[in-house]
Amino acid sequence: MFDSPRGDFPAVRMRRVRRHDWSRRMVRETRLSVDDLIWPVFVVEGDQPQAIASMPGVERLSLDGVQRAASEAAELGIPAMALFPATAAELKTEDAAEAVNPDNLVCRAVRAIKSEVGDRLGIICDVALDPYSSHGQDGLVQHGYVVNDATVQVLCQQAIVQADAGCDIIAPSDMMDGRIGSIRAALDAHGFADVQIMSYAAKYASAFYGPFRDAVGSSGNLAGGDKKTYQQDPAATDEALHEVALDLREGADSVMVKPGMPYLDIIQRVKERFAVPTYAYQVSGEYAMLSAAAQNGWLDRQQVMLESLLAFKRAGADGVLTYFARDAARCLTA
Ligand code: PBG
Repeated sequence: MFDSPRGDFPAVRMRRVRRHDWSRRMVRETRLSVDDLIWPVFVVEGDQPQAIASMPGVERLSLDGVQRAASEAAELGIPAMALFPATAAELKTEDAAEAVNPDNLVCRAVRAIKSEVGDRLGIICDVALDPYSSHGQDGLVQHGYVVNDATVQVLCQQAIVQADAGCDIIAPSDMMDGRIGSIRAALDAHGFADVQIMSYAAKYASAFYGPFRDAVGSSGNLAGGDKKTYQQDPAATDEALHEVALDLREGADSVMVKPGMPYLDIIQRVKERFAVPTYAYQVSGEYAMLSAAAQNGWLDRQQVMLESLLAFKRAGADGVLTYFARDAARCLTA
C-alpha cells in the first residue's frame, strides 16, 4: 500500500474507474460478441417441433425448422451450428448402424441447411454412437465394455458420411483413444482434407449431460449407467492436458472442454498451455439450471446468460457452444 499524503484516506481508489459506464468500458479487457457463439440444435423426424421438458425454451426441430433456424443464425451472424439427431427408437441397434447411413437424419439435416445457407454458416456434426445405439453408449459394447479400436473404425465411417453430406467441422465426442488420428487419415483419404476436426478433447464423465440424454433419447437405456471408462474423471486435471496434446498431435484443428462453467480452470490451463482455438461447451445441465432458476424468478435470465458466457471468454475460451446462442445473439446485436 502507498502511504496517503493525507494520512486517513486511500490514494489509490479502485472505484474511480468504475464510476461511469464509459470508464468501465475503457478498462475491460474481455468482450463477448456474436462471433463467440456456436448453437447446438436437436433435430427430429416429422414436421412438428417437440418441447424438451428439462430444457425450457429448447425444442427438437423438424428438418424445415432446422433450416429456418440455420437461416436465422446466419442472419444474426452466429458463425456455426452443431447438430444432434434424436433418432427414432426403432432405428437404434446394438451396432448403431444408423450412424453410418448416408441418409440418416443428421445427414439430411446437413444437406437441407447447406442448400439454404451455403457457406454463410458452418455446420458441426458430433461423431459418437450414442444417438444411434440401443445401449446409449458412445461406442460398440462387447461383454459389457465399450471397445476402443473397433469403435474407432465405425467413427471413421461416420465422419466420412457426415463430411460427404456437407458437414464443415467433424466433432468427435466419443473419447476413444486414437480417434482423431484415424478420423483425420480417413477424411484425407476420401478427399475431405479441408474438413476441420474440433475435438472434444477434455470431456468429463459429468452428471450435467442429463437433459441432453433426454433430448436425444439416450438416457433411459444407458447400459452400465455411466461413461466413466472413457470420459474423464472430474477430479483429474493433468489428464486433460495430456488428452489435448494427443489430439493436437493427431491433427485436431481446435479443441473443446466440456462441461463449461464447473471446468473453467481446465479451459484456462488448456488455453495457456497450447494457445490453439479452444472452445467451451456450456452443456444441457448448465442451461437447465440457469433456466429453472430464471423460470422461478430467482435469477435474471438475460443477465446470467450474458455473464456466464462472458466468464468463458475471460477464462480464455475462443467461443462457446451454448443453447443460449440465439437469445444471446439477439441481445448482442440489438
Ligand atoms: C454425445 C454427446 C453428449 C453431449 C454432447 N455429445 C452426451 C454424453 O456424452 O453423454 C452432451 C451435451 C450436453 O449435455 O449439452 N457423446
